[in-house]
Amino acid sequence: MSPNDILRIAVIGGDGTGPEVAAEGMKVLDAVARLEGIRYESKDFDFGGDRYLATGEILPKGALEELATFNAILLGAVGHPDVPPGVLEKGLLLELRFKFDQYINLRPVKLFPGVETPLAGKGPDDIDFVVVRENTEDMYAGAGGFLKKGTPDEVAMQTAVYTRKGCERCIRWAFDYTRKRNKKKHLTLVAKTNVLTYGHDLWWRAFQDVAKEYPDVATDYNHVDACCMWMVKNPEFYDVIVTTNMFGDIITDLAGILQGGMGVAAGGNINPEPGGTSMFEPMGGSAPKYTGTGKINPIATISAAAMLLEHAGHERAAARIARAIETVTGTKMKSQAAGKMGYTTSEVGDLVVGAL
Ligand code: IPM
Ligand code: MN
Repeated sequence: MSPNDILRIAVIGGDGTGPEVAAEGMKVLDAVARLEGIRYESKDFDFGGDRYLATGEILPKGALEELATFNAILLGAVGHPDVPPGVLEKGLLLELRFKFDQYINLRPVKLFPGVETPLAGKGPDDIDFVVVRENTEDMYAGAGGFLKKGTPDEVAMQTAVYTRKGCERCIRWAFDYTRKRNKKKHLTLVAKTNVLTYGHDLWWRAFQDVAKEYPDVATDYNHVDACCMWMVKNPEFYDVIVTTNMFGDIITDLAGILQGGMGVAAGGNINPEPGGTSMFEPMGGSAPKYTGTGKINPIATISAAAMLLEHAGHERAAARIARAIETVTGTKMKSQAAGKMGYTTSEVGDLVVGAL
């Protein structure tokens, strides 16, 4: 979209603390929109566990069509203690990722000033990389089934699906991103070619082929297990990582704790095509025990709002939020852990607005 168009944002607060953090993300977005003269409109949607328990439906009829009229979705959290695992994840989060073909899951891993990392001797200069996770295939595709379910001979199959189109478009986007990021211009493919000799052979070949179009980007390869080791030992080695959906899920939790944990880590589910609807979210869950207590950290959601603006072409506004976040983590907040911030959820939002 062009920066002069009215940006349409759908807000899905979701479960638990999701609505509280989404409100802070929108508070900061609204403040920066005023300062930067960005025109936007937003609408709240009450999708999530409570609605599901009351009505039996997760996304009501017509919801996808309506959401498709928005440029972006800001999602708080998905996960309700009274709903069995997988129901809301599949019915809401994964459904939106798949239906809107958000084939990039972008996860910046940046240690903000003043934020504690469990890595001894590493600081903000060492922990600053990005994971580009494929977001529509792999074991997430939902292919599989049971045989003889519930008997002693039961068989369960969970198939990892990889397509040439799926991996190639993600890899190409990661190369473009690495070039545009313009830091070390170093892209590492993370996979498991020594064991997954079909699926990850496809990824390996696509990576080699696309690399030829980007002679200015240095390429590397890590097996996923080794990547976990290197990420802890030498996080400064990484600039951009591109990886499969399942491995990307796992390594971005590891990466998330390096940058200060779930209160800080944000992600974007991006459909890069013109007219695509993308979705931005904090990486943490719904943290039911903190619901309504004002203890949850909204920084991740505020970061997600900045990613939303950047994706919509408002780079300056996004950078302004990022700088304000750094001021608040660096000079105000005592900790990034829930209940230990020294401020309530909404006070942290106010501090970021003040720092804008
Ligand atoms: C994430 C989450 C989701 C995933 C869950 C909630 C389905 O862990 O965004 O990383 O596995 O992708
Ligand atoms: Mn995850």
